[in-house]
Amino acid sequence: RNYHVVIPAAGQGKRMNAGKNKQFLKIDNDPLLIHTLRVFEEDLLCTGIILAVNKKEIEQIHELIKEYNITKVSQIVEGGKERQQSVFEGLKAIKGNPVVLIHDGARPFIRHEVIHHLVEAACDKGAAVTGVPVKDTIKLVEQKQITQTIDRSSLWSVQTPQAFHLEEIRYAHEMAERDGFLGTDDASLMEYLNRPVEIVQGDYENLKITTSEDLLFAEAIIKKRKEDAQK
Ligand code: CTP
Ligand code: MG
Repeated sequence: RNYHVVIPAAGQGKRMNAGKNKQFLKIDNDPLLIHTLRVFEEDLLCTGIILAVNKKEIEQIHELIKEYNITKVSQIVEGGKERQQSVFEGLKAIKGNPVVLIHDGARPFIRHEVIHHLVEAACDKGAAVTGVPVKDTIKLVEQKQITQTIDRSSLWSVQTPQAFHLEEIRYAHEMAERDGFLGTDDASLMEYLNRPVEIVQGDYENLKITTSEDLLFAEAIIKKRKEDAQK
């Protein structure tokens, strides 16, 4: 039950407003992207990491990988304008038909345990994503008027990783590109083809570092994990 992972890391990090790509910001002394890469570097089931990056950052990323001794990056490809295109480029670089995970470079806190549940679900059911039940009450709003309150028991916040069989997700990306369909995650491309996707409960710590307050949450998670490790 080995897998490859495609990590899109070719965004701009605009919402972080850091004056540079957020993935190079340091959390607990190491760059955000390195935290994410380490999770897969240290997972025995991961047999290859494919990174999609901005052309102008390729050199910098090569250097970081060397500096931090990340050995599993088998390919670095140039990303595209949208995340979906970056993922597609990554998928094209893989051979055979392995289970492939797609995981945001900006989610450093994914746990091995969740990854393994997800891989198992993808092997059994074909495709699976990780997510958490929503905690807020979610309402539909039009012109600042609430039109509906959606039954929360059926709402999930979906995260990455998302796991597929390579041939299927690559086909879904081909069809989406052909039709000009742009989804906000990879599962939505499978849904577009009416293919089933299972959800695996992950955890709330698997946040995507998006705005500056997420860095505070990130430091808190790291602190907690260090304390837990000492017990
Ligand atoms: N990503 C990518 N290619 C793009 C856009 C995004 O590979 N064209 C990657 C990002 O690098 C990130 C992940 O997809 O690891 C999730 O995207 P997001 O959190 O939106 O990151 P950014 O697009 O970089 O941030 P922003 O939207 O604030 O500019
Ligand atoms: Mg973005």
